[in-house]
Amino acid sequence: MTPRVLSGIQPTSDSFHIGNHLGALTNWVSMQETHECLYFIADMHAITVEQDPAQLRERTLLSFAQLLALGVDPKKSTIFVQSQVAEHAQFMWVLSCLTGLGEANRMTQFKDKAAKGGASSASVGLLTYPILQAADILLYRPNAVPVGEDQRQHLELTRDLAIRFNGRYGQTLVVPEPHILKATAKIMDLQDPTAKMSKSSPAGCVNLLDSLKVTEKKIKSAVTDSDTQISFDVINKPGVSNLLTILSAYTGTAVPELVDSFAGRMYGDLKKEVAATVLEFAEPFQNRVFELMGDRAELESLMADGANRAREIAAATVTDVYTKIGFAI
Ligand code: TYM
Repeated sequence: MTPRVLSGIQPTSDSFHIGNHLGALTNWVSMQETHECLYFIADMHAITVEQDPAQLRERTLLSFAQLLALGVDPKKSTIFVQSQVAEHAQFMWVLSCLTGLGEANRMTQFKDKAAKGGASSASVGLLTYPILQAADILLYRPNAVPVGEDQRQHLELTRDLAIRFNGRYGQTLVVPEPHILKATAKIMDLQDPTAKMSKSSPAGCVNLLDSLKVTEKKIKSAVTDSDTQISFDVINKPGVSNLLTILSAYTGTAVPELVDSFAGRMYGDLKKEVAATVLEFAEPFQNRVFELMGDRAELESLMADGANRAREIAAATVTDVYTKIGFAI
């Protein structure tokens, strides 16, 4: 049987960034050739922090358009919006009752996000977010979940919950494997290359829909180091190494080959080449996104189709789960 994959992305920004793209989305596209794929926009995750309703709706549509423009193909994959499939919330309740409070409290993303926003203002949803993520995944019984490194701990919780459920109620759920691309698992912030690239630090974050001028400026202002030699050394040269990783991912040229080609050249040359390469990708991508956004009815109809397909699988799992746990169905 063809193995199945599932993954999600939050619609919390006006654009995906190159960390999302290289860490996860390139895998989403390539796995369509070998797997049965389900991909979704995680709008229920987005509301763990306050969202403006009109903006959330717009960003959900824009996220959908970006997936299509990147090559996620509704003919090959099921692409849907999380909130349109009610089973995610239904199944989450069941998994919440299998999760220990201590286990939820250990999730580092919660600790980081709560610390940033002030712990007392963090919502219960932010704490239980990884349980919703486990429900997202286990509902579809995928074999693999393509994500970046920052999602590893959530995947571990997902696996633990699947094993626990199966142990308690009998074999029901598939225990999925994280699928993390080693080279691009963690694209770093261009201004602080010891931190992961994230929308919360806009100056160091290259968005695929940023204007080409802004992208060029961000890349050309990337922090490197006081040395002059272009070499790959994540510990001592995190900025230069990050630029080499990005260039390698977009050109398909291996890092050692790039290092050789930059022998005797300056950091400015490297930045120029990274900027040119990213722009070469971004320009046609942006045109395609704007074109797709011109036909909102078509996007909405694709969303509805995707949700119908997803619901069929999700409903079967919920029925199975409800039966196993003794609900009167
Ligand atoms: P999100 O929306 O923050 O990110 C989407 C994907 O991009 C990856 N990513 C990165 N990869 C490399 N370098 C970076 N700097 C970088 N920043 C982000 C993320 O690892 C992710 O794969 N909780 C998830 C969404 C989600 C989900 C799921 C994922 C909800 N349910 C079920 C998989 C399965 C999130 O917030 O991703």
